[in-house]
Amino acid sequence: MKTAEIRKRFLDFFEKRGHSILPSASLIPENDPSVLFNTAGMQPLVPYLLGQSHPAGKRLASSQKCVRTGDIDEIGDKTHATFFEMLGNWSLGDYFKEEAITWSYEFLTSKEDGLGLDPNRLYVTVFEGNNDAPRDEEAASYWEAVGVPSHRIYFRGVEDNWWSAGDTGPCGPDSEMFYDITPEGLGDLSSEEFEAADEQQKVVEIWNDVFMSYEKKDGKVVGELSQKNIDTGAGLERLAAILQNKDNIFDIDIFDGLREDVLVKSTSDIGEEEKTRAVRILLDHTRTAIFLMSDGVVPSNTDQGYVLRRLIRRAIRYADVLGIEAGGAADFGELIIKEYEDIYPELRHKQNIMDIFLAEINKFRITLEKGIRRFQAYGANNSISGTEAFDLYQTYGFPVELTLELASEKGITIDMDAYNKEMERHQSLSRSGAEQKFKGGLAGTGEMETKYHSATHLLHQALRDVLGDHVQQKGSNITSERLRFDFIHPDKMTDEEKKKVEDIVNAKIAEGLPMQSVTLSREEAEKTGALHFFADKYGDEVNVYYIGNDMESAYSKEFCGGPHVTNIGDLGTFKIKKEESTAAGIRRVKAVLV
Ligand code: ALA
Repeated sequence: MKTAEIRKRFLDFFEKRGHSILPSASLIPENDPSVLFNTAGMQPLVPYLLGQSHPAGKRLASSQKCVRTGDIDEIGDKTHATFFEMLGNWSLGDYFKEEAITWSYEFLTSKEDGLGLDPNRLYVTVFEGNNDAPRDEEAASYWEAVGVPSHRIYFRGVEDNWWSAGDTGPCGPDSEMFYDITPEGLGDLSSEEFEAADEQQKVVEIWNDVFMSYEKKDGKVVGELSQKNIDTGAGLERLAAILQNKDNIFDIDIFDGLREDVLVKSTSDIGEEEKTRAVRILLDHTRTAIFLMSDGVVPSNTDQGYVLRRLIRRAIRYADVLGIEAGGAADFGELIIKEYEDIYPELRHKQNIMDIFLAEINKFRITLEKGIRRFQAYGANNSISGTEAFDLYQTYGFPVELTLELASEKGITIDMDAYNKEMERHQSLSRSGAEQKFKGGLAGTGEMETKYHSATHLLHQALRDVLGDHVQQKGSNITSERLRFDFIHPDKMTDEEKKKVEDIVNAKIAEGLPMQSVTLSREEAEKTGALHFFADKYGDEVNVYYIGNDMESAYSKEFCGGPHVTNIGDLGTFKIKKEESTAAGIRRVKAVLV
């Protein structure tokens, strides 16, 4: 069964059972600076799992794009990937264990509208119980009711059968489904035999049903939620590998065209094993990079942009290992887009994505060879100092992970402590430089610049009101003649949307609200819900500027150094002059006050 068919069957199956199908959310979490990427289908749904009502109802399902970079060094084996799609169904205080388990079983085994997997190869685990929650005899009884024999239901502890996205948030005991992928079939297994089979990847986890009815704070379960939720997640690529009889996720149909292309273009005669690993890294990293760029990430030296840069640069290095000519790596990007664009419309900004991709490839290519030569010179005595590693980063654009990887291949050691110190020194220098510039730039501002600065805050909030909360500031530039504002949004704004934004801003100006600021600790400032998107720009004390009579009722709240007008009634009339794209998923508005 093709990957696309699995995805479709899953969504159809749950739609038939009353679920609204949600499009995948962006890979970049909205308003959650604590994580860089969505790592599970439930992440965009956290507020709803905590009790807020979801506009699409209480039963939801999706195929959500996820990125996990914790295992980046393991990419190249059979199961790890930095990008994957998670199929999931949710109940927000609606159905609970019985339906979740019954439907999971039905979808996995039904030949008509499910996957038709062999029930005799299925094993499940449930929670054994602790002080926070009882032994899950209930879940076990539902598994038995659908036909899983009790000796194939294993009770396990919190490390295996309790799920939470992090230290704080909704969580709960879970029940995992495993599938036997050995050719001969393992048959019945004792608990110990099952553990061993899991370790040896003879059985693989294919789906997780979380009975999400508890809440965690700072790593501790603090109580029950006001509603009992279901949160499930199944890795699409893993299911595809099983249904296509492949022993690894890189041999499934979505990669067919790419794999062939890579192998045709590869001119190096490295060993089979090394080649397999290099091909997988190249495919994986290119796919993740393309998806990140389609969600508006651009290569940079911080946060998501840095991860993207690492992925692209590592992909290029492996293209080199494979002896693929310059240009080859970029072609793979196009093939990825072609493979997925019907499902993920954000990939249709193909030209933008490819422009950014090519620019980053070219930038790195220019220094890569020189950098490798420099690396060899530095490493001639089998050790690289912190200053040298930093030079490779600074002058040749080698992410330190790349230097480390090259070093470990060649048995060279790196003084990481010294490198980290060097890096810190550099960052504090450039931070104070940026602060100076920031302060200086605005301190010297005239009346018009100050007005434009305040208008920018209004615009930011109005864009979020009209287009949605995915809108985030990506850049801003002010002169005495106009403001320019870059933000995340996938589509061109319609005339109607532009008009609405203008109307909102002008209505707020007409209200003549005061603009005020308070200085708070960073923690308190975050609690106000004020917008802030440049995570590392702020220190321990921050200013929050708000437009309104008090913070509670303020229309706009943002972390900001100022200066601003004292009353927005002074701004005049706001007009959008131009709206255009600057990069994949990034729009730019130019506006004036007249
Ligand atoms: N949120 C659960 C997981 O990621 C379903 O496994």
